Amino acid sequence: RSLLSRALVDLDVCLCLFFFLLKVRPIEPAAVLWFTDGLVIASLENYSPASRIGVLVRAGSRYETFDSLGVTHLLRLASGLTTKGASAFRICHGIEAVGGCLSVSTTRETMVYTVDCLRDHIDTVMEYLINVTTAPEFRPWEVSELTPRLKVDIAIAQQSPQIGVIENLHAAAYKNTLSNSLYCPDYMVGKITPDKMHTFVQNNFTSGRMALVGLGVDHAVLKQVGEQFLNIRSGTGTIGSKALFRGGELRSQTGGSLVHAAVVAESAAASSAEATAFGVLQHVLGAGPHIKRGTNSTSRLSQAISKATAQPFDASAFNATYSDTGLFGVYTISQADSARDVVMVAVSQVGAIAQGNLTVADLNRAKQRKSSCLGRSQWLAVEIWLTRLSWMKSETGVHLLMFMASNA
Ligand SMILES: *[C@@H]1O[C@H](CO)[C@@H](O)[C@H](O)[C@H]1NC(C)=O
Ligand SMILES: *[C@@H]1O[C@H](CO)[C@@H](O)[C@H](O)[C@H]1NC(C)=O
Ligand SMILES: *[C@@H]1O[C@H](CO)[C@@H](O)[C@H](O)[C@H]1NC(C)=O
Ligand SMILES: *[C@@H]1O[C@H](CO)[C@@H](O)[C@H](O)[C@H]1NC(C)=O
Ligand SMILES: *[C@@H]1O[C@H](CO)[C@@H](O)[C@H](O)[C@H]1NC(C)=O
Repeated sequence: RSLLSRALVDLDVCLCLFFFLLKVRPIEPAAVLWFTDGLVIASLENYSPASRIGVLVRAGSRYETFDSLGVTHLLRLASGLTTKGASAFRICHGIEAVGGCLSVSTTRETMVYTVDCLRDHIDTVMEYLINVTTAPEFRPWEVSELTPRLKVDIAIAQQSPQIGVIENLHAAAYKNTLSNSLYCPDYMVGKITPDKMHTFVQNNFTSGRMALVGLGVDHAVLKQVGEQFLNIRSGTGTIGSKALFRGGELRSQTGGSLVHAAVVAESAAASSAEATAFGVLQHVLGAGPHIKRGTNSTSRLSQAISKATAQPFDASAFNATYSDTGLFGVYTISQADSARDVVMVAVSQVGAIAQGNLTVADLNRAKQRKSSCLGRSQWLAVEIWLTRLSWMKSETGVHLLMFMASNA
């Protein structure tokens, strides 16, 4: 008996120690991933008091059809509208009451619904997130009330030369899909009916096209939520068309004295090995933000261009990756009369590297810069990691990729 009780005490001590370690030591974030009937569920437990949960849907503007152009822009604004379970008012106040925040962002490929909240309120906020993404009602009067906001969004975008260049760049580069703008075309404003929105959501928001990602969330909680998604919107949806690169040139006159120019070629799909190489190349050339305020840039592009012109300019590598294609090139901003030189020199630098003019030291520095950029934001790392994994679904390399991602 004494043996047993001693064993129990030992066990107790062991367990205490175990839980103590569990509570105190878990600095390593734990990443967990499931694939259930096509739905990807991924979570990264970082033991932070704040949680973030995202629903990623492969329903960006590239999936808009000819007669529904702009629908994703409208959906981006429609996240607070009445759903089958709650009024617009209740959603807004319900999330605010617990200090949460719901936001929607779209890219050409993905729509991302994100909620941020304190860990204690996950359940409340998750219910809203599920209702917003799975059971919107799109009441006609609420949808038509979005028109002024749509117009403001478009007007703001039109003020930004950077946005204009990127939109035109995609329109010139692709024949279909990715040529669709992130912004509703002017002629579609006020013409996107609730029916079109319903059709788009019905066809594109299926579990096979969704991923649920949690940061600072208990894995079990997220898995439970995932099951609700499966109940509500199971199905794989159709496979979208492949993006066709065509190339071309598009010029848009603004009357300003600055020239924004992007010169790109088709690069590689995000899942391919070359995409990583293009990522490094971007850092070899200089992957600055598009607007800088007089920094003394040391990038290879800037160094080369400053030898060719004394006028102010900004130049960085442009790299966009999509699931089936990509764009790579240079983006320059310069005075109108030096634009020719700036663009020519920038493009010639890409050519020089292609010819092999690249030292090992430069290459290694670029790799380091790339890693430090990736590591900067944990959330970003999760997104990248997820995007990588979602193509790899059917393959067995999942664990290796997970490992790579948490070290990114
Ligand atoms: C979500 O929807 C269900 C049924 O549609 C409803 O019963 C529930 O109250 C809704 N919850 C929230 C938080 O909107
Ligand atoms: C997305 O929705 C549209 C309807 O608006 C549909 O035509 C299209 O096929 C859907 N895309 C996919 C990939 O299911
Ligand atoms: C290419 O650039 C985009 C930003 O434009 C970035 O998100 C992506 O990770 C880059 N691709 C690679 C392979 O680094
Ligand atoms: C930029 O760096 C160069 C050499 O490193 C230096 O000569 C120049 O004065 C710097 N310019 C500014 C604005 O700091
Ligand atoms: C290689 O690149 C460096 C720096 O950009 C340049 O100074 C040099 O002339 C280039 N060499 C050749 C052979 O292109």
